[in-house]
Amino acid sequence: MSARILDGKAVAREIREELRGDVEKLTQQGVTPGLGVLLVGDDPASRSYVTAKEKACAEIGIYSEEVRLPATASRQEILDVVEGFNREPRIHGILVQLPLPDAAMEEEVIAAILPEKDVDGFHPSSIGKMMLGLPTFLPCTPHGILHLLKRSGISARGKHVVVVGRSNIVGRPLANLLSLKNELGNATVTLCHTGTPDIGAFTRQADIVVAAAGRPNTVTAEMVAEGAVVIDVGVNRVEDPTAPRGYRLVGDVDFNALREKVSAITPVPGGVGPMTIAMLLYNTVRSAEKHAGVQ
Ligand code: GUN
Repeated sequence: MSARILDGKAVAREIREELRGDVEKLTQQGVTPGLGVLLVGDDPASRSYVTAKEKACAEIGIYSEEVRLPATASRQEILDVVEGFNREPRIHGILVQLPLPDAAMEEEVIAAILPEKDVDGFHPSSIGKMMLGLPTFLPCTPHGILHLLKRSGISARGKHVVVVGRSNIVGRPLANLLSLKNELGNATVTLCHTGTPDIGAFTRQADIVVAAAGRPNTVTAEMVAEGAVVIDVGVNRVEDPTAPRGYRLVGDVDFNALREKVSAITPVPGGVGPMTIAMLLYNTVRSAEKHAGVQ
């Protein structure tokens, strides 16, 4: 059996089209949604993510404003940019691309973002509300995964979902959201990580496996049950002299082997990545609506 490929690119396009209409309405009311983007340093992957996000904004009429700082930028220089975006009425959402060159600064920088502009959903206040099931901005990758499952007709309700990877950006928020008692959650969740001695012992019992470890081949064919659903969050650059740029992108799972065994799987690229961007646009539009007093 060959698995159904979950086309995140197509689902994300659908969401962006819906948002385009919302942006049009807002703009007619005199409010153009605005996203402030801060990129620190010159990591090529971060640069390319930021470019993709800004392009997606422009395509649906969201205004975006980018500030770039060198990798040597001080804590105060970074905080000044965030404060500037906080005060700027044209900016409804703030995106500080992570990781920062100095990861030790991340906590303070994220905490400096006004929660009402925290469209990444990384502020401690947003995370606390998410965890309690209260309305807030949800982090884009976990939120994107929930919507990709929903729009693909796959319900997590009552299923055993095994998440591999405990990052603050993906693994832990996703595990939390899936455990909530609501339409997109109600799953039984297991969170595996580098401290788990035998990850396969858990993933083999999963109806849905989410690989978010940041390492190629973290999930292999013998680690999943026949007919499982596999969501691959990994974006890893591996050297490939035959590829135009000298590298190609692979996820965290052994895609070619898994697709013969599972019922559905996301590709890399074209799976979760476009959904992350769509949910960033979604949060930015919702923030602008709130600012404009739209219900
Ligand atoms: N780095 C990896 N994923 C993300 C994301 O969703 N938002 C930000 N700001 N940085 C990231």
